[in-house]
Amino acid sequence: MKKTVICPGSFDPVTLGHLDIITRASRMFDKVKVAVLINSAKTPCFSIEERMELLREATRGLENVEIVSFEGLLANYCREQKVHAIVKGLRAVSDFEYEFQMAITNKKLNPELETIFLTADSDSMYLSSSMVREIGRMGGDIRNFVPACVHDRIVSRLKSL
Ligand code: COA
Repeated sequence: MKKTVICPGSFDPVTLGHLDIITRASRMFDKVKVAVLINSAKTPCFSIEERMELLREATRGLENVEIVSFEGLLANYCREQKVHAIVKGLRAVSDFEYEFQMAITNKKLNPELETIFLTADSDSMYLSSSMVREIGRMGGDIRNFVPACVHDRIVSRLKSL
């Protein structure tokens, strides 16, 4: 049976840390669906379509990766799509409690759904999308934080805000 996993997130915008997790998942599983979702606790900066486009560009070389988006619960989408595993990156101990809560809740909502954590690489340990947005907005250099192929688009979008 083909193993499909889902990498969910806000991706506002995609960073090298996200790309590292997606790339590693694409080597481990047959198919990776990267889902650009709404985190109701956050007000996004990039539109869903913009975030999807940046991800499409950043993952162009990864043939088994598909970029998707939907409204509603991740657990329900996974049931509908017959996806049984979520892959997420864990950066530091500070991520753990929140990720643990989400993993348990998703499993309560859909008992067939497992969450698999990959440890972030050392360069992404302290990286986040909001940090990238703040540095970019203030004219700082974000070259070390975002995929090179989408760097210019992210910079010009952040400057326009
Ligand atoms: N490298 C670098 N940064 C990373 C990273 C990595 N490997 N993994 C996560 N991050 C960053 C993200 O960019 C994000 O940064 P930000 O807070 O500055 O935006 C932060 O860490 C948190 O990431 P994550 O835990 O993935 O949260 P998220 O907001 O990106 O995604 C959803 C959360 C969208 C997956 C979750 O809200 C969801 O599933 N929503 C759908 C509705 C639903 O089912 N809700 C019930 C959930 S139990």
